[in-house]
Amino acid sequence: MISSLGGPVIPNSYIMKLLVLVLCSAVALTCGEVRQGRKFPDDFVFGVATASYQIEGAWDEDGKGENIWDYLVHTNPDAIADRSTGDVACDSYHKYKRDVEMLRELGVGSYRFSLSWSRILPSGFANHVNEAGIQYYNNLIDELLKYNIDPIITLYHWDLPQKLQELGGWLNPLVGDWFEDYARVVYEHFSDRVKSFITINEPAQVCYEGYGTDTKAPLLNATGIGEYICARNIALAHAKAYHLYNNVYKPKYGGECGYTFAVDSTAPLTDSEEDKYAVELLTQQQWAIYSDPVFSKDGGFPKELLELVAKKSAAQGFPRSRLIDFTEEEKAYIRGTSDFFGVNHYSGSLASPSLYTSQYAVPSSMDDIEVGQTVSDDWLQAASSWFQKMPNSVYITMKLIQNRYGDVPIYITENGWSSYGGIDDEDRVDYYRSALESALDALDEGINLKGYYAWSLMDNFEWLAGYTERFGLYQVDYDDPERTRTPRKSAFVYKHIIKTRMVDPDYEPESNVMTIDEGH
Ligand SMILES: *[C@@H]1O[C@H](CO)[C@@H](O)[C@H](O)[C@H]1NC(C)=O
Repeated sequence: MISSLGGPVIPNSYIMKLLVLVLCSAVALTCGEVRQGRKFPDDFVFGVATASYQIEGAWDEDGKGENIWDYLVHTNPDAIADRSTGDVACDSYHKYKRDVEMLRELGVGSYRFSLSWSRILPSGFANHVNEAGIQYYNNLIDELLKYNIDPIITLYHWDLPQKLQELGGWLNPLVGDWFEDYARVVYEHFSDRVKSFITINEPAQVCYEGYGTDTKAPLLNATGIGEYICARNIALAHAKAYHLYNNVYKPKYGGECGYTFAVDSTAPLTDSEEDKYAVELLTQQQWAIYSDPVFSKDGGFPKELLELVAKKSAAQGFPRSRLIDFTEEEKAYIRGTSDFFGVNHYSGSLASPSLYTSQYAVPSSMDDIEVGQTVSDDWLQAASSWFQKMPNSVYITMKLIQNRYGDVPIYITENGWSSYGGIDDEDRVDYYRSALESALDALDEGINLKGYYAWSLMDNFEWLAGYTERFGLYQVDYDDPERTRTPRKSAFVYKHIIKTRMVDPDYEPESNVMTIDEGH
């Protein structure tokens, strides 16, 4: 009944509670809650999101430099599930007008996309700006504005210029200067028309997956070391880019600048104090190590994590802690540097120290906290191995953030479902409907949730999974040189939700022909 990531079986009382949760979501009225007719506020933003390496292709066209994903897929093809690359991907470098047409079909008010650092600065350094790269993004921005779609730019979505990686990448203490120089070029060229910037997408996936394990480029796998050096540098880099925007560009153009974190919904395995504390420790290891320096009252890294890592490091014979604290000056510099909390949310888990096993390397940040995770078999499995659909997970995630940081403005900057493909994507339709119902639950409780971006506009290169996992509202035909995009059922359903600002569980698209409604 219960699948476990290496731990014991979940007690029956918990299964009962989960069943009640699942029943409550399926048949709302049995739980005394009337869910019909709830609307998203008029100023609630609906959008879709993508990222440069995953869609653009044109990996070496018009002066673009090599980045860490170009380097990985070309030098280590076995690391990618289907040995594919992002060399062409969705070919959005040439097909961006079709992308904007799809945004108009959906009726979204906003498009979140990322910039390729090495398309703008081929070597990573700001001594040479590639004008063709600037032109590409100008074209895309102008096309969006022509149809009243607000561009929201992510400066960094994981495609570091390879030259900077050779200098240590996010482990080099100078990376904040390099990032600030890149940010200046971006703001100089685009902030007259773009009013919303996100500095960095998912620092945990940059640091933990890229440096502390081997599940994202550059696959450094310096467990228990790399993620902590990166966590310190990336917070300072983000803060530099924020201060630059806030001091120079915001006074001139208005607009906002924020930071996006990946937050899973985590619940205690049982009601025990140990399991509740395990949720806190897992929160610190997974995301608060990146967000506390910016959003917590006192700034800096989470206290318990700092203490645990210091203790473990000493016991392991390290002359100093593997997690180096900020100075008071650095803490003050980083604290408060985000105009909103961006959250990418997908999956969930149950936490307990009783689930901890010795599967983790020593040292590693999972070994530092000694907490294990599991999921319930009742939760639908997505195509991605890491992804199970936990009931009401958006609400749980919003509460985790609100409990930690109060009424900070929140944007869900990514949320969506992975399948193996196919146009009739009932699972994705169900996921979006439950996620948005769950978002309405959060809004009902006064959580300051301001917008929602579906991941993703279309199928794209899913990192180490290549093209084996599909997240698109539109299906992309990779066998077709035109990379034809075809709307899935979920595209019609999301369009209907945006149009009505409601989730209608019974809505069925009238046809499979997508059109652009008046006014878009
Ligand atoms: C990653 O590092 C750990 C030791 O810290 C090791 O056990 C594991 O095998 C490494 N993974 C790879 C793919 O080298």
